[in-house]
Amino acid sequence: MYLTRLSLTNYRIFSRLELDFPRRVILFTGQNAQGKTSILEAVAYLANLSSISTANDRQLMNFYTPNEPITVARILGEFVRAGRRQTIEVRLIQDAATNPANPRFSKQVLLDGVKKRISDVYGQFNAVTFLPQMSRVIEGTPADRRQYFDEILSQVEPGYSRHLSAYTKALAQRNALLKTLAEVGGDKAQLEPWDELLARHGSLIMHARILALAALEKQAIPIHQRLTRDLEILQFQYQPSYEPLKKPAGQMALPVQTTLDRTGISAEELERGILAALKQCYHADIQRCQTSIGPHRDEVRFLSNQIDLEDFGSRGQTRTALLTLKFAEVTWMKQRTGEWPVLLLDEIMAELDPQRRKDLLSVVGQVEQAFLTATDLDMFTPEFVHEHEVWQVNQGIVTRS
Ligand SMILES: Nc1ncnc2c1ncn2[C@@H]1O[C@H](COP(=O)(O)OP(=O)(O)OP(=O)(O)O)[C@@H](O)[C@H]1O
Ligand SMILES: [Mg+2]
Repeated sequence: MYLTRLSLTNYRIFSRLELDFPRRVILFTGQNAQGKTSILEAVAYLANLSSISTANDRQLMNFYTPNEPITVARILGEFVRAGRRQTIEVRLIQDAATNPANPRFSKQVLLDGVKKRISDVYGQFNAVTFLPQMSRVIEGTPADRRQYFDEILSQVEPGYSRHLSAYTKALAQRNALLKTLAEVGGDKAQLEPWDELLARHGSLIMHARILALAALEKQAIPIHQRLTRDLEILQFQYQPSYEPLKKPAGQMALPVQTTLDRTGISAEELERGILAALKQCYHADIQRCQTSIGPHRDEVRFLSNQIDLEDFGSRGQTRTALLTLKFAEVTWMKQRTGEWPVLLLDEIMAELDPQRRKDLLSVVGQVEQAFLTATDLDMFTPEFVHEHEVWQVNQGIVTRS
């Protein structure tokens, strides 16, 4: 798939920007603070339906928008998927008409001009985003990793984001009830409806994570071998908080450093297992006022030659593993959706050695369209610069050079 048009209104530094794109590689260049990353962020928004750099959508509204009672920031993307032209429009609306001191903020998403629920728009436009700060996927907290996998799964698995939001809501309700039971007591059976909801949505989330991690790992192993010249074997180790595999007889615990195959377990089995496990935790859960098992407590570890990269990986090893993960994501998305995702690379070249730069550019050449940013064109070979579109970004104005 590829983007043919991007139209921004009152978004970040751009009060208005209209860009028509060819189906190829576009390299945005310019000094610092000119708007390069903001353009990539806008394109990524069409895929993730949230910002890659802030959790607060208000920050995306142009600071200098005239102070009207109602102001709207807009990202509109037109793209071609399987030969069909489609549009996604995101409207961020600040409404100060009723309460100027505390304006209301809302978001609307339109697919082909029709207002939709956000969960129905996921997966229409796919992008793989690579930012320097993404090393937190490997080096950061379990929550960072869950968020990363949730983002890519929302883009690829129909219904995933719906299950995730239903799960999150039910979890908050169950935790609130646990608190009431701890503080004032009551019948534990009140937990049952929440257990059922958590098991139903949680099992589908877990099932999708199991299959996605196995598929991503399958893509990643040969890529990583190539990138490390056969020196390293990469493994993705899913550590669910509820373990569906039976312990082998006579063994106290499963060995930690092996990747277990859970791909044969059905969502129904997981649902029954989670439900039973939730019931066994009533006593502890009430004491802690928290639900102790479920996908919200899952963890994923990255191992290279059986060594945990978060704890023991060198800077270079982590960076290479991340590159592998991103390449695997591209081929996995192509496999799952039948379309190449758009590739978004923000200032990545500066982080890589010359060999890795070559590896990266070969993947850039594989997809239908890629957007790159760079302050310094010297990172690229003269042939690359000559062959591709190089667009200048200066104070929010974009010119094709
Ligand atoms: N909501 C906003 N309204 C107006 N301007 C904004 C808003 N948010 C960010 N900016 C400004 O937009 C400018 C461009 O930011 P951006 O991160 O896109 O630049 P960049 O070209 O990627 O720079 P760098 O090379 O440093 O990464 C910055 O000066 C930033 O302060
Ligand atoms: Mg930038």
